[in-house]
Amino acid sequence: MGPTGSGKSTLLLTIAGAIPHHIPGRVEGILTVAGKNALEVGMLGLVGDIGLLFQDPEIQIVMPIVFDEVAFPLENLKTPREKIIKRAQEALDKTSLGSFKDYPTDILSTGQKQKLALASIMAMDPKIYLLDEPTAHIDPKTAREIYSELSQLKRNGAAIILVEHRIEYVLDLVDKILYIDNGQGIMAQNMEELIEKVGLEKLLDSGVWIPASYLPSLNTEPQSINPTVEDADPTVQAKSLQVQLGGKIILHDIDFTAKRGETTVIIGPNGSGKTTLLKTIAGLIKPKNGQITVQGKKPSPTSVAYVTQIPDHQFTERTVEEEIRSVVSNGSRRTSLDPEQALKRFGLEKLRDKVVYELSQGEKRLVSLLEMILLDRPVYLLDEPTFGLDLKYSLLVLKNIEHLANSGKTVILVTHDSWLVTLLQSKIYGLSQGRIVFAGSLEDLLLNRDIWQRINFDPPSFLKEAEDPAQLKETLQDYRETLKQLARGDRQK
Ligand SMILES: Nc1ncnc2c1ncn2[C@@H]1O[C@H](COP(=O)(O)OP(=O)(O)OP(=O)(O)O)[C@@H](O)[C@H]1O
Ligand SMILES: [Mg+2]
Repeated sequence: MGPTGSGKSTLLLTIAGAIPHHIPGRVEGILTVAGKNALEVGMLGLVGDIGLLFQDPEIQIVMPIVFDEVAFPLENLKTPREKIIKRAQEALDKTSLGSFKDYPTDILSTGQKQKLALASIMAMDPKIYLLDEPTAHIDPKTAREIYSELSQLKRNGAAIILVEHRIEYVLDLVDKILYIDNGQGIMAQNMEELIEKVGLEKLLDSGVWIPASYLPSLNTEPQSINPTVEDADPTVQAKSLQVQLGGKIILHDIDFTAKRGETTVIIGPNGSGKTTLLKTIAGLIKPKNGQITVQGKKPSPTSVAYVTQIPDHQFTERTVEEEIRSVVSNGSRRTSLDPEQALKRFGLEKLRDKVVYELSQGEKRLVSLLEMILLDRPVYLLDEPTFGLDLKYSLLVLKNIEHLANSGKTVILVTHDSWLVTLLQSKIYGLSQGRIVFAGSLEDLLLNRDIWQRINFDPPSFLKEAEDPAQLKETLQDYRETLKQLARGDRQK
């Protein structure tokens, strides 16, 4: 673990033998992987020993059909045919993709792609798993199932090296922690030892996501946020919306409203239609039936700013500075903030001249968010705004979302991040198989366990213990205030 951009993925790629053999670079020192000199043998010499899951699921998938994606590496390893079929099916079942085996890979949702990449590694049964934020796009319930599958693999003798920001869900699985900051590594046997070695303040300051149970109680005065903006008309309205893609109905009869000054969160299992709904609100997909309006009109690029789930889909220029300048100068109604000031606001000045495609995933997320927040639009659509981000940056994103809402904008976001859902005071829509099965507040959701099952929701554990609304309200408020207190001051550096 370590701050956004600290070198975690670089370390995994080096252990995998990708650096310096496939990705140019210079490596010094000794690196032994599965008893071999990894710097000498490279990735090819480690085939069969390691399974590497890239942070971006898009770049991992090469085959057009789901089953073939899992079978292909096994064929390369000259596995007998019957064994390939058995192992591929097992791996797909373990990642809940069993029924998708004949599906084209290019139309999978992002989370389904991440599961598929993981399945193809599991099928190879490597000795060492190198997993870069393996569940960043996976819904919370399935993520928990995948972690229990990983514990099983560990019990069977596999070594697992994992990069994670939200470590709350993986602490049971972990035997040691390597914390990286500024290129330096510190080893600890567990969270307590890491806090003791580095110090809680410093860990928080460098952006490490500390599980709630390790946070001090700050007993702060609750502050009110989100003043209600008086506005009777919804800014975004969907009526009996139906969307069809490739001959299949993806969204059925969606009724949805979002008002000025309001933040709306959409949650739900992988493949339930969340991204499809955002794209429809953005005007990128035409509904088959029903109606979608933004300020009473058809959605258009001048009425919505849309942050895509995969940041690369948004970029058109070479460097960070060019990218931001281009978005801002093409946008007809932009804010007064100049790109230079903007980068500063997110503490990203040092990235100005970097090539966008070479940024870390977390850095890409920040740049893609920042350039859209700079545009002045009535509606902001954010698909997974905090994936790949450490605590410090997640809080900064939270602050910006609240700022947009407080200044009368409409923010609609999709997320698998239970933490973000918990901290935002917003209306929640739960999607399941293309239908809205829940609409209400977080408190309503937390007290309604039947719904969790349907939408694969899994709140942070300390919230599950609250039994009545009053207790829940208190616990929630405490948690929100503790984190916000930590976020205040100058955490934008
Ligand atoms: N062109 C297409 N043809 C047929 N089905 C499609 C097409 N594009 C997407 N789908 C399917 O629509 C469903 C919803 O996809 P969507 O991307 O909206 O899911 P999501 O809820 O955003 O999932 P995730 O949490 O993984 O991001 C998926 O099952 C996907 O495979
Ligand atoms: Mg999606």
